[in-house]
Amino acid sequence: MARSGANCSASTASQSGNASWPRTLVPPLRPRRSRRGGAGGPQATRLQATAHHIPSRLVGTGSSVPQQTLTNRDLEKLVETSDDWISSRTGIRERRVMTPGQNLTEFATEASRRALEMAGVVPEEVDLILLATSSPDDSFGGACLVQGALGATNAAAFDVTAACSGFVVGMITAHNYIQSGQFKTVLVIGADAMSRLVDWTDRNTCILFGDGAGAAVLQAGEENASVDGKKVGVLGYKLRSRGADNGKLTTCYMSGELQSASTASEGAFKIGQGAYESLHMNGSEVFKFAVRAVPEILTAAAENAGVEMADVDHFVLHQANQRILDAASDRLGVDKDKVASNLARYGNTSAASIPLALDETVRAGKVQPGHLIGMAGFGAGLTWGGVFVRWG
Ligand code: COA
Repeated sequence: MARSGANCSASTASQSGNASWPRTLVPPLRPRRSRRGGAGGPQATRLQATAHHIPSRLVGTGSSVPQQTLTNRDLEKLVETSDDWISSRTGIRERRVMTPGQNLTEFATEASRRALEMAGVVPEEVDLILLATSSPDDSFGGACLVQGALGATNAAAFDVTAACSGFVVGMITAHNYIQSGQFKTVLVIGADAMSRLVDWTDRNTCILFGDGAGAAVLQAGEENASVDGKKVGVLGYKLRSRGADNGKLTTCYMSGELQSASTASEGAFKIGQGAYESLHMNGSEVFKFAVRAVPEILTAAAENAGVEMADVDHFVLHQANQRILDAASDRLGVDKDKVASNLARYGNTSAASIPLALDETVRAGKVQPGHLIGMAGFGAGLTWGGVFVRWG
């Protein structure tokens, strides 16, 4: 097979998390309505499309990561690098990597089970499953694999592809479905096996990434639900994309061509058949993009949400580099203690990084009813997005 250039045209320019969780943090849900036996099935539980003030409450989180740990010292045996270089440049000390034979669906499913358990939701109650990923087990989509594994038989399921912004895009998509009255309970998963996408001989990139999965349950709440007079659920968001800069971070399809062959009829035919190449990145350009993108998108999202940055209790930002987290918190003028960081243990897990950090923050008992959480993702596309949610 002959291979030619990348087809990214825009570039012309388990050891899983702690299973216990502080149940008291999650306010009780409304009584469930049975979905079985009803005349309309899932349709029967749909909310009225006219209800524009339905809060999309964040009612459960979960996460799951592979057991195998790859330390910086392990990487010294793979590429010319050092623990000191990696940790001083990125804050990463180790990452989790799937072993051959493991698949992403098992981690995405386990993270989902934990999120559903925290939410007190059984799989049959889920209306929609959104799987944010760039590395599904099946390139036709991984969400249905999770749906099948969970037994979420009433749920529609599809993938969201927005690289490291995928979980935020998924949250916002879920929120809009809930607000429109189409769905009541949505499971949003961020899961990636970046070990599949990186070139393990490229020290510029392979040291940054790891595998993992995180999940969150969003559910329609009572109209105007609040804690201490403050509206709960998703309060506002902002999404942006810049395809002209796509070439800064890619895993492009490389054109190829099957050997021409004569046909029974006259002439020859040509069939394009290439393959996806490993991740390519312009690290310094992506770094510059990220340190501007995070404060910009959070500021815009805060305005849309009607909240002040000073009132945010927790920032859960995409975990790409500790220096990016520090620069973003400096620019925003927020206390670094409010910014979740698990980079040292997991590296950049792409779409999984925000829900993984969110789940750790919740299960550590740090998130109380009424707390305001700001989330921001950024990455390939280029894409970036921010969302504010009040827990409760
Ligand atoms: N070990 C040792 N040396 C390495 C190395 C490694 N793993 N990777 C690169 N280098 C070398 C380079 O070859 C280069 O050497 P040269 O100067 O002789 O050409 C040098 O280190 C680059 O150093 P520097 O430019 O100071 O690196 P940096 O401080 O910009 O850090 C990144 C590089 C990749 C860590 C940083 O740019 C980054 O984090 N970018 C954002 C990446 C990201 O977050 N991507 C995902 C977004 S979702």
